[in-house]
Amino acid sequence: MAGAAETPAAAGVSHVYPHGSRLNERGRLEIGGCDVIELAEEFGTPAYVYAEDDMRIRAREFLSAFERRTDRFEVVYASKAFPCTAVYKLMAEEGLSCDVASGGELFLALRGGFDPAKIYMHGNNKSVAELEYAIEQGVGTIVIDSFDELERLERMAPGQRVMLRVTPGIKPDTHAYISTGQEDSKFGFGVDEVPRAIAAIENLDLVGLHAHIGSQVFQLDPYEKLAEVLTGVGEYPRLNLGGGLGIAYTQDQKPPSIDSYVESLLRGAPDGVTVLCEPGRSLVGNAGVTIYRVGTVKSIPNVRTYVAVDGGMSDNLRPMLYGAHYEAEIADRFGGHSLCTVAGKHCESGDILVSDVLLDEPRPGDVLVTPATGAYGHAMANNYNGIPRPPVIFCRDGDARVVVRRDTYEDLAARDAV
Ligand code: LLP
Repeated sequence: MAGAAETPAAAGVSHVYPHGSRLNERGRLEIGGCDVIELAEEFGTPAYVYAEDDMRIRAREFLSAFERRTDRFEVVYASKAFPCTAVYKLMAEEGLSCDVASGGELFLALRGGFDPAKIYMHGNNKSVAELEYAIEQGVGTIVIDSFDELERLERMAPGQRVMLRVTPGIKPDTHAYISTGQEDSKFGFGVDEVPRAIAAIENLDLVGLHAHIGSQVFQLDPYEKLAEVLTGVGEYPRLNLGGGLGIAYTQDQKPPSIDSYVESLLRGAPDGVTVLCEPGRSLVGNAGVTIYRVGTVKSIPNVRTYVAVDGGMSDNLRPMLYGAHYEAEIADRFGGHSLCTVAGKHCESGDILVSDVLLDEPRPGDVLVTPATGAYGHAMANNYNGIPRPPVIFCRDGDARVVVRRDTYEDLAARDAV
């Protein structure tokens, strides 16, 4: 059962791994009760392996952190972090609402069983077709991002419930590519523009303001400040403070707890206002690991040892896009003293998944694991170099099930029109 999962620290693996993970009697990593070496044999590599209970535990942590303090809240799963039918289903079962950033995510959310009334639609440039689809499906709230969109919606959907996206001029300490709250942003209305936007609304049902300051944020004070800035703009029944709570990618990282994050969100908001948040990464990031098979080990004396695995920038773009750091281990020999660089199999020198990691004498055939790939891994996977994208495997109580299958070579040609 979800609540009963062993904590990672108690089981010989760090908090970077999913709840309930451990090294079993054979010294092999176990996720959701499943031995990952056996998973590699059964399902092949690379593969995204998730502890299903981990996501449920975190969803419940968000809900109970609010429930202990208020009954005016909504936890909205930012589904861009991990959009697949099984996850939408899981988050809907846990009672969360859902944010979609495109017609495609909306399609998947509906397919996963989300009540359209609990869906929030985002996007700085939603197409007319996407807006029509959202309106026709009865999407509960559309978050308006620009004057052009406001005009469009006034014509298309009188009475539609909307929020306004605001860029609050707050810049958290994170990578520039995933910082969205600063004034110089393609998203939303600057604080000074909001009165003009509000004045332009005639037929829409404006229920509140929205802002997302960025992602992988470890400080909490920007969230308190955010609630204050939005409150200063006007009084609305609902404030959506976005997502962004950071997670640990490496053992030394200690992000704030979900509880203290929620505390900060509520601290800045006035009484009587319903506070919404949109966690993505913090719900799914640590729930997933990627397993690879080592293919070659190349030692360049006095330079570097490259351990090449059967994936890379097609299944994890984050190191290349954001310089993100990951850990790695040989799945049945944790710990080690050989300084290695884990490379992918793509035809680019920049296809490096982990630089400078200590591994236990890696050799071809080993299963290598990188933890904390649960958010924006599967989501940003691609077919570069004609590599089939990995499957997604959910593990729970020792049972493993494929929730997204591996691409086939036929899939690679599925859209070719000749
Ligand atoms: N709400 C809005 C409006 C967002 O744009 C995002 C993320 C979130 C919520 C969820 O943020 P989270 O809680 O996951 O940090 N591909 C990047 C992340 C881009 C995030 C974009 N928006 C990465 O791999 O780090």
